[in-house]
Amino acid sequence: MDRTAFIVSIIVAVICASLLYLAGAEDSSQNSGSKAVPTTIIFSHVVGQHTPKGIGALMFKRLVKERLADKVAVQVYPNALLYSDGFKGVTDKRDKVMDALKAGKVHLAAPSLSQLSDKHPALKIFDLPFLFEDGEEADKFYQENQKLLVASLEKDRYRVLAHWQGGMKQLSANKSLKAPSDVQNLTFRIQFSNTVEASFTAMGAEVKKMDFEAVYKALERGEIDGQENTWSNIYSEKYFEIGNQYFRETNHGYLGYLLITHATFWDKLSSDERSTLEKIIKEVTEEVNEQAKRQEGEAKEKLKGKSIKVEKIDREEWCGAIWGNPEKRKDLLSQIDVKLLKSAKTVSTDQNRCPFPQIGDVESSAVD
Ligand code: SIN
Repeated sequence: MDRTAFIVSIIVAVICASLLYLAGAEDSSQNSGSKAVPTTIIFSHVVGQHTPKGIGALMFKRLVKERLADKVAVQVYPNALLYSDGFKGVTDKRDKVMDALKAGKVHLAAPSLSQLSDKHPALKIFDLPFLFEDGEEADKFYQENQKLLVASLEKDRYRVLAHWQGGMKQLSANKSLKAPSDVQNLTFRIQFSNTVEASFTAMGAEVKKMDFEAVYKALERGEIDGQENTWSNIYSEKYFEIGNQYFRETNHGYLGYLLITHATFWDKLSSDERSTLEKIIKEVTEEVNEQAKRQEGEAKEKLKGKSIKVEKIDREEWCGAIWGNPEKRKDLLSQIDVKLLKSAKTVSTDQNRCPFPQIGDVESSAVD
């Protein structure tokens, strides 16, 4: 054997020995139930740490550390530090969190239902104005229809792990909104949802679809006149500081989240890890939902404590203004699954309140 062949054979032997050692280390770590390097779950979301979703993300991280310390580690990136929520758009080509999940750049996200609904129309029902009274009603509806609601996401190999309540949406604008006609010609920031857009244009308002993290500056610069969000997001984002916003307690729509991972990541975890994570997620979901309920009242009171006037609307008047026009109603109900609509009616505690009487005709003509 010449000198070069000798050196090559030594290198090959060292590489083989290292590979065998590593394989052995992996085997023995599996036997002892621990990994040499824990799997990392990168959890990306867009809101503050003290909101229901922010608290949920941190609780998830803490419980994973307590129960799976040597196997799984969680990194939480709030405030859109990594990605905006939703999917890459037609004009805005940046990857958003759903694209990043698919690419394996993040492993957990909790985008709002509205950010998903244009691509997954079964979720559009959550964007219908005044359909759900509160988060609990929306959650009951979700639990009863879960399979149908998430079927197309699952088909795209996303794994939906939970529904988290956010709360009811409220309005603010740079002019006091007493009657529905007051929104005419004002521009509101909304999420990337054609159904939410239809509810604003039904009242004669304009909309600008925009990422959550861009809203404060857009309000400050006067690029938009108003916005809609939960009390906890409004308080956490400090929209009250801007000075030109009048707040209205409208409860006009529901904001909820899906906790989502991707099959490529999730299915690679061991079944023990998955089952521990699922138990953790159940506990976290209860806490998030509790927080959503609590913060709805607390954040509103905190705003009042800052001398912000929070006035209620006449619900029937506003709901009637949106749902009363048959043409606009068609836009709102476009792509809404009639089976889901019927179920939402069943879940409601008051089936005679707007919008059910208004949509009754559409429902019966669309059935079968
Ligand atoms: C969130 O709560 O995730 C923010 C929703 C929004 O974009 O308004």
